[in-house]
Amino acid sequence: MNANADRQRDLIAALDFHLEAGVDLMLDEHPHDRFNEVEAPRMDARPPEVESRPEPKPALRPEPPPRASSAQPPAGTYGQSAAARPGEAAGDARARAKDVGSLEELEALLAGFDGCPLKFTAKNLVFADGNPAAKLMFIGEAPGADEDRVGKPFMGRSGKLLDRMMAAVGLDRTSAYVTNIVPWRPPGNRNPTPQEISICKPFIERQIELADPDLIVCLGSPATQAITGTKDGILKTRGRFYPYQVADREIRVLATLHPAYLLRQPLQKRLAWRDFRTLRAALDGKA
Ligand code: URA
Repeated sequence: MNANADRQRDLIAALDFHLEAGVDLMLDEHPHDRFNEVEAPRMDARPPEVESRPEPKPALRPEPPPRASSAQPPAGTYGQSAAARPGEAAGDARARAKDVGSLEELEALLAGFDGCPLKFTAKNLVFADGNPAAKLMFIGEAPGADEDRVGKPFMGRSGKLLDRMMAAVGLDRTSAYVTNIVPWRPPGNRNPTPQEISICKPFIERQIELADPDLIVCLGSPATQAITGTKDGILKTRGRFYPYQVADREIRVLATLHPAYLLRQPLQKRLAWRDFRTLRAALDGKA
């Protein structure tokens, strides 16, 4: 047997294994033994009460790893350490978001915003799809690999299911505006962290103000919690309406199950079906 062919087959099997496990992004050329690196000082750690602090031990690998994305956080801004200072980045996001006057300007602002670390591992900004003039807005959690590649939300399997659910109640992407609470893909499809959500929140809030829908459907728990402020899980919140205040106008928010969850738990589609009938009734002025 040819040893090279064996080796190639083993390498392909190893890659397949990693892909299956959700490891589909390489952040560096070299593996890192994180257990051997010096722990970075915590932001909230108190400095020792001595005047001259001992020098921290140097990390085993002093050079910062090169990033996969071509975009680099600019030196000297919080962009390099937004993960450590989410409050500062969220404050800046809020200050900038309130000044934009259109969805196009908001998208351009996001494209130039370096305060969210997710930007530097994502391939593309995923801003929105569908009809921004529609009276209905769907808000999901964060882009996945397909959305990151295409630059539009809900393009993969979850998106196909969402399209079918919409079609079942007479809707499509010309009658709805579709977006996410976080516009960059978290690496390996992990959930966005509370810090990442709080940094991006001023942008989705401004996006809602500018799109000005009558009805919002939040898909899944993170979107529902971020938009309504509830701490309840989706199995409790789904099917319910929540108020969302924009200036002196109240927008209704309906929570429902995320299509990705329905792909994993197809029996729960009956609950989503109930919610979509509630949505239809609301659009028809009957709920
Ligand atoms: N899941 C989401 O929440 N949003 C997308 O855009 C795709 C999958």
